[in-house]
Amino acid sequence: MKFFIDTANLDEIKEAYELGVLDGVTTNPSLMAKEGISGEDQVNAHYKAICDIVDANVSAEVIATDFDGMVREGKALAKIDDKIVVKIPMIKEGIKAIKYFSSEGIRTNCTLVFSAGQAILAAKAGASYLSPFIGRLDDISFDGLDLISQIVHIYQNYGFETEVLAASVRHTMHLVKCAELGADVVTCPLKVITGLLNHPLTDKGLAQFLADHAKANK
Ligand code: E4P
Repeated sequence: MKFFIDTANLDEIKEAYELGVLDGVTTNPSLMAKEGISGEDQVNAHYKAICDIVDANVSAEVIATDFDGMVREGKALAKIDDKIVVKIPMIKEGIKAIKYFSSEGIRTNCTLVFSAGQAILAAKAGASYLSPFIGRLDDISFDGLDLISQIVHIYQNYGFETEVLAASVRHTMHLVKCAELGADVVTCPLKVITGLLNHPLTDKGLAQFLADHAKANK
């Protein structure tokens, strides 16, 4: 299973990368805005800064919602660095753009996916990654993990090569359940990745080992 970090914060990306388990980075316009990044030059420079930190792929989202605009923006984003994956929203024009980029050998991440039908369309168009949003479904009383299970099953039925990138992952159990269900990738905030470390018995056991060692060696 691949771990992507879902942030545009350079310090968090560095911290996750230094842990040695990071396979990629996802961003979105809201995450870029949160870091105070605006304007094409600043946005592109920020993507470049992220690419310089990690030896991993970096999803960069288009803002345009029409085919021509998505193609223009996506091509410009892909030129920033070989690590860039062009993130495209799940809309009609987006499906056309994903098909176009797939035929040009440019990798895509289809975002804002909330149904199995959308997942089928994106795979047919040749998306490299598919981002179903678990947490946002949970927020409105739909089971986000059920959707992951359904999509993994469908993709296996037909041998689709699109990787299921579980997104909007809010806590460690989302991540663990995604692993059980066979999601290829999860993208989540740093606190979810580091949260996997936590167990009180580990802390208690380590304290005991160190205390026993200190007693025997005084
Ligand atoms: C994925 O690519 C999205 O950026 C992200 O996971 C959305 O998460 P949120 O629902 O917590 O904003």
